[in-house]
Amino acid sequence: MVTGATGFIGSHTCVELLDHGYQVVVVDDFSNSSPQVVSRIQRLAGRFLDAVYKVDVRDRRALSSVFDRHRVDAVVHFAAKKAVGESVRLPVEYYDVNVGGTTALLATMHEHGVRRLVFSSSCSIYGDVDTSPLTEQDPARPSNPYAASKWTCEQMLADVCRCRPDYTVLSLRYFNPVGAHPSGLLGEAPLGEPDNLMPYLAQVAAGRRERLRVFGSDYATADGTGVRDYIHVMDVAEAHRIALEHLGDSTGLRVFNLGVGSGTSVFELLTAFGEVSGKTIPYEVVDRRPGDVTELVADPSAVTREWGWRASRDLAAMCRDAWRFQRLNPTGYAAG
Ligand code: UD1
Repeated sequence: MVTGATGFIGSHTCVELLDHGYQVVVVDDFSNSSPQVVSRIQRLAGRFLDAVYKVDVRDRRALSSVFDRHRVDAVVHFAAKKAVGESVRLPVEYYDVNVGGTTALLATMHEHGVRRLVFSSSCSIYGDVDTSPLTEQDPARPSNPYAASKWTCEQMLADVCRCRPDYTVLSLRYFNPVGAHPSGLLGEAPLGEPDNLMPYLAQVAAGRRERLRVFGSDYATADGTGVRDYIHVMDVAEAHRIALEHLGDSTGLRVFNLGVGSGTSVFELLTAFGEVSGKTIPYEVVDRRPGDVTELVADPSAVTREWGWRASRDLAAMCRDAWRFQRLNPTGYAAG
């Protein structure tokens, strides 16, 4: 079962799973995605998803009837809200969907004897840190309700695994997933004005938005702009498939960073995107965005050590694929 399967990371993961012979049952409320994505997933994989349910993960009764109908081996749980700024405006909503959704899912899994889960976590749980790169052992200091909701889920999962030794849970802490499927059929299609750098850059390059606002150039980094560890969404999708293959290695909760292990500044990404798209990207430096941190870079070596896997796609591929998706889908999934 994949929850939030039509979102940015979920959709790429579904294709990866179908490509590798998995049978996939989808649960999604389509609150921040398009039903169009379902047909694109199936078209890319050349196979059908087993079933698609329009269900809010907080709705235990509806969720339970999905478990009644399918023999679920494992759940990959993406369904969540993920905009940091919005979480500051709507903190209760973030706890409700992210923590409440995970609680409802765990309770329903338990009733149906399903004990295996891959959970979507986030590098944002590390908060405003001085350490770089970050290992899984670095402390969590979430600094906004979105990050706190993810950290709360991880703590809950740790407790569940401590109390119930037959549970197997993997929590993957994504750094900054960007890019798109190389076909240009799947990508990041935010509704309204994008919050995140890569989709914003793509829309500026396409002429949909006038200029990029660079949120601060007075950070303590080489060029003064914020540094992040961008990872191609195809690598993130691949990592979920590998995670499922390794779920059975041991019981309990295991936590892994998913990043490339090197930092890229806003200016560096802007330059890379300009080169790939052949466009001059207008920008202006504005004030820092509240809640932003200086630098977040993963030490991704634990995943490599455990699974012999590492992210392989570079920044140029991330920009190239994001740009292709933007050109082929100028208004996201809206127009078809
Ligand atoms: C945030 C979360 C991350 C979450 C991701 C996806 C934190 C620390 N990180 O990532 O966990 O998975 O959102 O929603 O909470 N920038 C600009 N102009 C823009 C947009 C962004 O200059 O128009 C800059 C930001 O200041 C930052 C960098 O670009 O330095 C990346 O920002 P963004 O893409 O929004 O991701 P994060 O905030 O790092």
